[in-house]
Amino acid sequence: MAGTFKITFFPENKSGEISEGETVLEAAGRLGVELNHECGGVASCSTCRVRIGSGGAPALSEMDVDEKEVLDREQLDGDYRLACQTRVKGDVTVTIPPPVKPLADQAIPPSR
Ligand code: FES
Repeated sequence: MAGTFKITFFPENKSGEISEGETVLEAAGRLGVELNHECGGVASCSTCRVRIGSGGAPALSEMDVDEKEVLDREQLDGDYRLACQTRVKGDVTVTIPPPVKPLADQAIPPSR
């Protein structure tokens, strides 16, 4: 039987249950927490990034290659995860940072 855990989203300070196997993005949607997800949850845009608080890495699923590549490309530190790829296995808090543009929309400065 799958477990359920407590997840709290900041800055809204909204808590609810998250089922084992459910992604952080899915839980946000179900709890009415606004969280961007421009690519639809396929680990390519990084707009669903969240900063992990209490609970930390032991409460989360392992990071796969696609997620790691996106986080590395964005130069995000180890506290960040993609909500669309992250499943929980313990109580956790997450902070939703201010919105960012999807990678495809970010201007690349001309080289000289
Ligand atoms: S929704 Fe695009 S990376 Fe998560």
